[in-house]
Order: sequence, then structure tokens, then C-alpha cells
Amino acid sequence: MNESPTAAVPPDCIALGVTSSIAAYKAADLTSQLVQAGIAVHVVMTPNATKLVHPQTFMTLSRHPVTVDLWQAPDWRPEHVSLAERIALLVVAPATANFLGKYAHGVADDALTTLALSHSGPVLVAPAMNPRMWRHPAVRENVRILRERGVAFVGPERGRVACGEETEAGRMASVESVRRAVEAHLAVARRAGLRGGRRLRVLVTAGPTREALDPVRYLSNRSSGRMGYALAEVAAAAGHDVVLVSGPTGLAQPQSCRVTDVVTAEEMARAVEREFPSCDLLIMCAAVADFRPAAPAAGKVKKGAAGLTVEFERTRDILETVAGLRREGQTVVGFAAETEAVLENARGKLTRKRLDWIVANDVRRADVGFGGDCNQVTMVSRAGAEVSLPRLSKIETAAEILLAVTAAG
Ligand SMILES: Cc1cc2nc3c(=O)[nH]c(=O)nc-3n(C[C@H](O)[C@H](O)[C@H](O)COP(=O)(O)O)c2cc1C
Repeated sequence: MNESPTAAVPPDCIALGVTSSIAAYKAADLTSQLVQAGIAVHVVMTPNATKLVHPQTFMTLSRHPVTVDLWQAPDWRPEHVSLAERIALLVVAPATANFLGKYAHGVADDALTTLALSHSGPVLVAPAMNPRMWRHPAVRENVRILRERGVAFVGPERGRVACGEETEAGRMASVESVRRAVEAHLAVARRAGLRGGRRLRVLVTAGPTREALDPVRYLSNRSSGRMGYALAEVAAAAGHDVVLVSGPTGLAQPQSCRVTDVVTAEEMARAVEREFPSCDLLIMCAAVADFRPAAPAAGKVKKGAAGLTVEFERTRDILETVAGLRREGQTVVGFAAETEAVLENARGKLTRKRLDWIVANDVRRADVGFGGDCNQVTMVSRAGAEVSLPRLSKIETAAEILLAVTAAG
């Protein structure tokens, strides 16, 4: 059995560029969340950003000096060069239209833009601006240039911006979305982009399904969707083309994937049937209902003196549907949430459903699995490989799963 080499993850170092969007206050919360996630954050502000949020806020939250002035280096080394050599990722959140324009055209007239040109690693930007600015042809062109160069974007999203507009994209992606994107990019960077390989079309299912009992009640399960969302986000951060079929979750939609929302097991089966033929890798992480009420009531079931007996029928088995559609070269990964004989049951499912890999986890454990941020899984392949991962964050678990599955082809 192989123990994963990434049991103890070294702390990552990132630079967080903060520009003078009104969303700069959100960067304070982002800094705090990243630091709490164990990431070393070095904040670099544009001089204009300091008019909106005082650098002291970022210094206190990041526990590091904040760089604003290009001409005030802590030692003989120019800070933009030494910082560029130390960081695994440059994040700019919020990114103004001005920053995007300067970065796209190689302008380096302050500490942040100079750092951006000195840094040769991955870059993630979270633009924030008035929707008219985001729509402007000059901004569209700058975004196109940066995307083409491999800069990753998170947001902007629709929603109310400070000037009152709310119907079009412009608002910075939520702090949760940016933090998750940062963690996904770091997990990928730590594994050298998940070790190269061609760009794949990846289909991930996530979350629970809901089966109606009557118009107000449903049968569901405790899946939070976090593991599937982590898989989708890490795959997208590695440059794959990702479709996420998601049951109802309370999570912010990943901006890096195409998301199809479904509710029932049947809707999920149909979405997978539609997307599967064009995908290279399918990861079935959703907790799909095995049974549904055979005849959901048309009206709300009233409380009576007697108890309630409900007849259930089997839902369609998505993995069996997929097995029938499968063509050469497609990899299919299943998940097995078990409460007993975890590995034995998982191996049975691997063979029965003709999967390439099965990822087994013990959902009885309170410290991992459903709902939480961590997981502890064992992966078994059809070819006989067995990889037991330690307890890791779901983002790290996702990166290890993708590494094993894509390395095996
Ligand atoms: C209160 C205020 C809020 C602003 N919000 C934004 C914004 O959300 N996005 C944006 O692109 N510019 C915004 N601007 C304009 C930028 O601050 C301006 O373009 C500035 O030159 C950008 O400088 P920087 O990119 O060096 O920080 C705002 C300006 C003010 C005064």
C-alpha cells in the first residue's frame, strides 16, 4: 500500500495584490481567511488602495509588513524581485480595470504591477468594477489578453455593486469563492500543475439529491457537496475543461467550471447521460438517492392520528447507465461512502460497476467526510493500485485523487 507523500503540507507563500476598488475592504477578510488556512500572505497595495483601506489593517491580519512603495525596500534587494522569488501564487483581489490594463500591456509603475511582471508563476485575479467598466471593449480586450497568457480569473459575478447596479457582472466574487480558488491553485502549483498532461474534459457530480415526498417535504442525505466542488475546482485550476453537475448545496458556485444544477437522482442521471459522451474523465462524487417515494403526494400530507407509511422505489443507477455508454479512453471514478467493511464494499463496487478507480471513505467518522473541510480516503484502482491518503483538506484530497487518476491515464 502506498502512503501519500503529502501527509505534511509545507506552508505556502502568496502575494495578495490589493487595488483601489471599493471592494478592497473584502480583501481584509480574504487575508484573514487565508492566514487561518495556514497560508503566508504578503500584501502589496497600490497607493490608491491605501486611500480606501489603511495598510495597518493588512499588516495586522497578515502578520507581515505591507508593500506599497516601490522605493522602500526592507534590505538591499528590490522587494518586487525578492517577493516574486518567494511566492507560489500572485493573487490580485480586488483587481481594478486600471490594474488589468496595466498588467495586460506590461506597464510597471508601482510595486504591484512591477511585482506582477517580475513573477513567472501562476496568477489569479478577482476583478471588481462597475458593470459598464467591465463591459467596456478596452477591458474586454485586456481580459482576453490576460486569459490567453494563462492568468486565471475568479468572477466578477452578478449582484449589487456599490454604485447601485445589480443586474450585470461587475461585483467581486465572494471571499469564499476567491479563497477556494486560491487553495485550488496552490494545491495544483504544489504538484507542478498536477504534472502536466493534456487538457481533459472532466465531468464531476457533487452534492446530494432530493426526492419529493409531497410538495413541501423531501428525502435527502448529509452530503455537503464540498468534496465534489473541490475536485471540480482543482481540475479547473489545473487547466482542464470542467463540467460540474451539482445537487442542491449551500456552496458558492465555482466560477471556473460550467455548472448544471439538478435536484433529483433522475435529473442527475439525465445530466450525466448528456455530458458523459464528450468527457475524458468522469468523477461521480455525488451522493445520489438509491430510493425515492413511489408516488409523491400531490398536496401536503396532513398530520393524522395514524403514522405514515411510504412506499419507495429504486432510482436509476447512474454508474450502470454510464457503463452502457462507455467508449474507449474514458476514465470513470466512483466514490463509496461506507459505514462498515469500507474497503471490502468499495472493492465490490469497483468490480460490479466496472470502474477504473473507487474512492472509499468511512462516513461514520466525525472528523472527516460529510460536511466538514477534511477527508480521509483510500483509493483502489481496477489495475490493483491502492493509495491510502492521510487526513487532508478536501482541496488537498482532490488534488491527490486527480494526480493519481490522471497519471494512470
Ligand atoms: C470610491 C472609489 C471606488 C472605486 N471603485 C472602483 C472599482 O470597484 N473598480 C475599478 O476598476 N475602479 C474603481 N475606482 C477607480 C480606481 O480607483 C481608479 O481607476 C484608480 O486609478 C485605480 O488605481 P489602482 O489600480 O492603482 O488602484 C474607484 C474609485 C473610487 C474613488
